[in-house]
Amino acid sequence: MPPSLSASRAASVPVSEENRAAAPATDRLLHWDRDHVWHAFTQMQEYEPLLIESGEGAWLFDTEGRRYLDGSASMWCNLHGHRHPRLDAAIRGQLDRVAHTTNLGLSNPTTVEFARRLVEVAPDGLEKVFFSGDGSSAIEAALKMAFQYWLQAETPQPKRTRFIAIGEAYHGDTLGAIGVGGVDRFTAMFAPLTFEAIRLPPPGFSGPSEGMPAPTLGESLAALERMLEEHRGTVAALIMEPLVQAAGGILVHPPGFLRGVRELTARHDVLLVLDEVAVGFGRTGTLFACEQEQVVPDLLCLAKGLTAGYLPMAATLTTERIWRAFLGTHAERRTFFHGHTYGGNPLAAAVGIASLDIFLDEQVLEGLAPKIARLGEHAARLARLDHVGDVRQCGLMLGLDLVADAASGRAYPWEEKRGTRACLAARGHGALLRQLGDTVVIMPPLCVSLEEIDLLANAAEAGIRMATA
Ligand SMILES: Cc1ncc(COP(=O)(O)O)c(C=O)c1O
Repeated sequence: MPPSLSASRAASVPVSEENRAAAPATDRLLHWDRDHVWHAFTQMQEYEPLLIESGEGAWLFDTEGRRYLDGSASMWCNLHGHRHPRLDAAIRGQLDRVAHTTNLGLSNPTTVEFARRLVEVAPDGLEKVFFSGDGSSAIEAALKMAFQYWLQAETPQPKRTRFIAIGEAYHGDTLGAIGVGGVDRFTAMFAPLTFEAIRLPPPGFSGPSEGMPAPTLGESLAALERMLEEHRGTVAALIMEPLVQAAGGILVHPPGFLRGVRELTARHDVLLVLDEVAVGFGRTGTLFACEQEQVVPDLLCLAKGLTAGYLPMAATLTTERIWRAFLGTHAERRTFFHGHTYGGNPLAAAVGIASLDIFLDEQVLEGLAPKIARLGEHAARLARLDHVGDVRQCGLMLGLDLVADAASGRAYPWEEKRGTRACLAARGHGALLRQLGDTVVIMPPLCVSLEEIDLLANAAEAGIRMATA
């Protein structure tokens, strides 16, 4: 069983006894959960409920007072911990002013300030911020902006209607996002509803066609060059996650891939959309992953860590060049006719500003190196387990492939759900982890301590041993 709340922590149990007494009992909630809540990416027939009631720092507490380390950062978005006093205060402060006003033709001081702060920290040249609600919406906005840009550019190029995307890419679940997505089990069924992207195999990964040799960095870039030639004048943009394809399975690109893609797209005047929904805000060791190869995209998509994992908000940042193509009188119909009700929500903006302050005041980025190194030590150790195959790490992201045979890399039959079983077993050791197929992922909040990383790795090991015995 996971360790229950220690006496010393009991005083800081985040839910008051009074509130607990007023809440429906766990059994009842579990029933209601099964009866009424359709959980994301979950086979509801096999759903194993767990009711998380509160959190503090890197820890989450269930309705029975058991605690778990948040090893997936509440789906890769929590940065500074749960119930961080400054983040909580920022939201309360904003609530004293207003919770929500629309940004369709109106503005709000907090949202304006947040846009300004984002531009200050973003790679040079990204000066315009379009707010939306979640990562998929940030992607939709970027794709539509890229498409419309070419219709309205100084020299219009209306034939530029296609997108290049990376094999095994994941950019969200809305129809446009799955059009550029490349994880078959998420997208194939919906193919009739969406558009077909031109697909570039990522370097180092053979993808779904097993047995095919993985392209090298040089081969991947050469393939891109051929693609750009072949589709000359018809590609609006290339979209990719910089450095790591997170939901694709923590696929880490070799150094130079991002830089190479930027050079080739620039040479062919193809826009570059970078999706930093998962890798942004410190996850790879720098505030933005693209900084590591000194790349500035034409469009940058942010979500998840944008509000430190507190509230839904996303942003699509772009350049003066793209923005200008949308300017004109109402009658000219150059407007970006796209928006979301809660885009630019002031509560989310307030917590986003507070998060950027914490990055500076608590020297969050400076503190990451030892944590990344500690996770790396565990990665090397876990790689030696009998049923662990490939192990990939970038910053505070780690993926451990579970395989039937480590020597040959032979996969387990998909139906055996080894990854899911390993993560469920890790719960019994006090860690909440989330798998990607048979890849066990460790991606904690940035505030995690070295000891907490040890606990996560040990729980993952115990879970993997149980699931592969
Ligand atoms: C790289 C990437 N892009 C886009 C998305 C979609 O974001 P959301 O789930 O907020 O729509 C995700 C979600 O995991 C992601 O990892």
